Amino acid sequence: MKKLKTAIVAVLGIGIWLEAGGSSADEKQVVSFPDDHRGWQHVRSTVIHDQDNPLFGFLSVYADSKALKANKANKTYPSGSKIVGIFHDVVDKGGIMTQGKRLKYVVMVKDSQFKNTGGWGFEAFDASGKQTLTKDAKAECFVCHTSVADKDFVFSTFVE
Ligand code: HEC
Repeated sequence: MKKLKTAIVAVLGIGIWLEAGGSSADEKQVVSFPDDHRGWQHVRSTVIHDQDNPLFGFLSVYADSKALKANKANKTYPSGSKIVGIFHDVVDKGGIMTQGKRLKYVVMVKDSQFKNTGGWGFEAFDASGKQTLTKDAKAECFVCHTSVADKDFVFSTFVE
C-alpha cells in the first residue's frame, strides 16, 4: 500500500512539473533593448496631444535596415527586423510643439518564437531603457497592432 501511494505521488508530481514547465508558449519571451537604434533610419513622427489617449506623446519611429527595406516595399518583415518608437513629452508653447523629456520606448522585434503575437516580440521600456514595462504583450500591445495585420502588424509607413 505504501509503495502504491509513493507511486501515485510520483506520477502526480511529474504531472505538475510538466504542467508548470511544459507550456513554453505561455512563458514570457525576452525582447532586449536595442542600444544601437539611434543609428537607424527615421520612419515617421506623430504627435498625440491628448493626455487621456494611451498613445499620448511625441512619437518618433526608427527602423533598422532589414525592417526599413520591408516597410518601404510593403512586404512581410524578415526575421531579425527591429523597430523602435521613442515617446517624448509634448511641450506646447503657443502652438509650437516640441519634444520634452523622454517618457518611454516601445520595441518590436521579428522572431518566430513570438507565436502568440504575430511573430513579433513586443516590449516597452522606461525612459532609461533599462526597465521593461510589459507583463502581457498580447493584451497590452498586440491587441491594437492586430488592426494592421495586413501590414504585418506595423502601423507606421516611411515618410519621404
Ligand atoms: C491603443 C493601441 C496601441 C497599443 C495598446 C499599443 N500600440 Fe504600438 N502603436 C499603435 C499605433 C496607432 C502606432 C502608430 C502611431 C503613429 O501613427 O505613428 C503604434 C506604433 C508602434 C511602434 C512603431 C511601429 C508601428 O507599428 O508603427 C512600435 C514599435 C509599437 N507601437 C510597439 C508597441 C508596444 C511594444 C506596445 C505594448 C507595450 C504597443 N505598441 C501598444 C497602437 C498601439
